[in-house]
Amino acid sequence: YNVTWDLKAARKEGFDHFMLKEIFEQPRVVKDTLTPRLPLDVNDIVLDDINMSKEVLEKINKIYIVACGTASYTGLVGKYLIERVARIPVVAEVASEFRYREPILDENTLMIVVSQSGETADTLAALRLAKKAGAYVIGIVNAVGSTISRDADDVLYTLAGPEIAVASTKAYSAQLCAMYLLSIKIAMELGKISKDEFLELREELYALPDKVGKVLEQADKIKELANKYINSKNVFYIGRGLDYAVSMEGALKLKEIAYLHAEPYAAGELKHGPIALIENNSLLVGLTGHEELFEKTVSNIKEVKARGAKVLAIALEGNDEIGKIADDVIYVPRTHWMFTSLLENIPQQIFAYYISVGLGHDVDKPRNLAKSVTVE
Ligand code: G6P
Repeated sequence: YNVTWDLKAARKEGFDHFMLKEIFEQPRVVKDTLTPRLPLDVNDIVLDDINMSKEVLEKINKIYIVACGTASYTGLVGKYLIERVARIPVVAEVASEFRYREPILDENTLMIVVSQSGETADTLAALRLAKKAGAYVIGIVNAVGSTISRDADDVLYTLAGPEIAVASTKAYSAQLCAMYLLSIKIAMELGKISKDEFLELREELYALPDKVGKVLEQADKIKELANKYINSKNVFYIGRGLDYAVSMEGALKLKEIAYLHAEPYAAGELKHGPIALIENNSLLVGLTGHEELFEKTVSNIKEVKARGAKVLAIALEGNDEIGKIADDVIYVPRTHWMFTSLLENIPQQIFAYYISVGLGHDVDKPRNLAKSVTVE
């Protein structure tokens, strides 16, 4: 008998891999991260561990969001959201670059660091640099009591629970939720979002866990698509605006666990070089949830299709136009524009998962990667 195996299997709760289990935990994780901060008897977002005063916030004239890997893509989403709703300039950057380029920091700078483990060496170094220069640091962290959670001035915990699979899924979704809350909170404090707008946003946030569940119901269909496209040699993920940020996480997931060559591009940038790479066996994943820019993205998708690539689109329910252009479409439920990134990313996780499984890779422990990188 093999006790270790049994225990491990038990902890996977019937799922073949931790990654799949963690993907399916997301409705709960999203709910746990959002709803305790959105009590219905208060018309405000309640962030217990954020002590930053309104006086300090009002003086902030620049925000850096710094992180590594998947967490850095939460930063990109944060940049789009905070700039748009709070009207403060935001730079989103990977920590390994930030720490060595003598960034301009002072007491009017807010730094948001994002980290699942709270121990990533580069992220921690960036945080310390900012603190030394007098900047205010808020950590979005999953591991309670981790170094980053202790060293930051304030913490907004993601309540994803332990994540075992090396490739991040539920922790990323929880980071997005935390970023949604923080963006809205900052904008509200600065008077940029009214109470009525907030109530509308809150309603949408409460609806998100069920909508995540609706995306998960499509896992079998996404598995079929993964098998259909499993032999793709080059996969391009494109999007504009928030979708561009989502495309980055999609491409990373495919590299990490399926070892497929995948690159994200800002859709409008394709014509400046990457389009030369398109061949008959290329796959394009087109993200179209940022509907303000839908027509623009669609024209980029058509350009690629005309050059022989297959197109798998991720779109919002009811968008029939994309169905006429793409080879396949995965639809996700509609939500407020601020929150589409969460729903659009989930099909990307499932797609990468089934390609990895189909290729026979070690999904939970991909080669050359570590869950937490505590050395430089
Ligand atoms: C490693 C992991 C990634 C993760 C990154 C940042 O490279 O393999 O999945 O996104 O570290 O980790 P953190 O714990 O700081 O979020």
